[in-house]
Amino acid sequence: MKHNLDKIETIKLANLPTPIEEAKRLAERIGLLKLLIKRDDLTGLAGGGNKARKLEYDFAEIIKNGYDVVLTAGGVQSNHARMTAAAARKLGLDVKLVLGGPDFEIAKGNLLLDILFNAEIRYLVDDDANESLEREMQKWSDELSTKGRKPFIIPIGGSTGLGALGYVKAIEELSHQIKDDNVQIILGVGSCGTFAGAILGAQLFLPSARVIGISVSRSNEAIKKRALELIEESEDIINYKINKSITVECYDNYHIEYGIATDEGKQAINLAANLEGILLDPIYTGKVMAALIDLTKKNIIDKNIPVVFIHTGGMPIIFSFENELGKNINCKKIYPK
Ligand SMILES: Cc1ncc(COP(=O)(O)O)c(C=O)c1O
Repeated sequence: MKHNLDKIETIKLANLPTPIEEAKRLAERIGLLKLLIKRDDLTGLAGGGNKARKLEYDFAEIIKNGYDVVLTAGGVQSNHARMTAAAARKLGLDVKLVLGGPDFEIAKGNLLLDILFNAEIRYLVDDDANESLEREMQKWSDELSTKGRKPFIIPIGGSTGLGALGYVKAIEELSHQIKDDNVQIILGVGSCGTFAGAILGAQLFLPSARVIGISVSRSNEAIKKRALELIEESEDIINYKINKSITVECYDNYHIEYGIATDEGKQAINLAANLEGILLDPIYTGKVMAALIDLTKKNIIDKNIPVVFIHTGGMPIIFSFENELGKNINCKKIYPK
């Protein structure tokens, strides 16, 4: 039985396929035979990132069914919220964001971009718990419905069985770009949709690949449970069942708390920038690179099998971490005489 993945409607938001680049200097430094970077930071939607692929599915649904306002939620530096706001504007829709995190005076990073997209924002000061964000978003959606609007809620991170199809397709795309199917794919895991999609995509298009998820917030148990739920949802949508037990390989020891930078992550950001001219971020991809370095050192990742690092984006976040990343400046100031 063939799946009907290609029959599920999308709306074009991302520049695809994204390039794949070999990072030779970084590979040598880490001790890997081959390191390929899948540049999903270049999906192009308002600064790029993984969420563009998921949103192509959500917005097809939104447009087809005539919703007139889109709501989503996340932490103050949510890439997903920024890209949802951009996608809504690109398609002429109204957009509302529920964000949460530390109090602020000046908007930076993704929040600054949300403001440029003129998203209406409700901000939960010092509270970015998923339950609080979701409660507030539902309340707002109900208010809008009462006023005769037709709101559509995209869950936190855009992680639904439908959105995850974006990464099933991403792995299909990757399978056309690499010569050797025997690869180790590594990526960050937040709300799990990207990871779930990548696991299902590997089952369908790269069966010899090993998919490794690096948590930025959840425990291994929570990831495994959520990833399997999402995979099942995606399977139902594409009308296809993987008839074998799926192994979910993830590591939850490379973050302290969601949104907090780690020292190893900051070092990894510097390394990728210095050796490859590639920008990682302190909340997601920097931690994944730190994990790749450590897992290779511990021989958990096989040095001799090519690694594909999925660069899921997040660059705007750098501009909200200037206090932590902008300190060691190699810059001699020369004042006018
Ligand atoms: C840059 C970046 N990488 C990885 C992820 C994780 O993706 P997911 O939420 O689908 O697990 C996110 C999610 O927000 C992200 O913004």
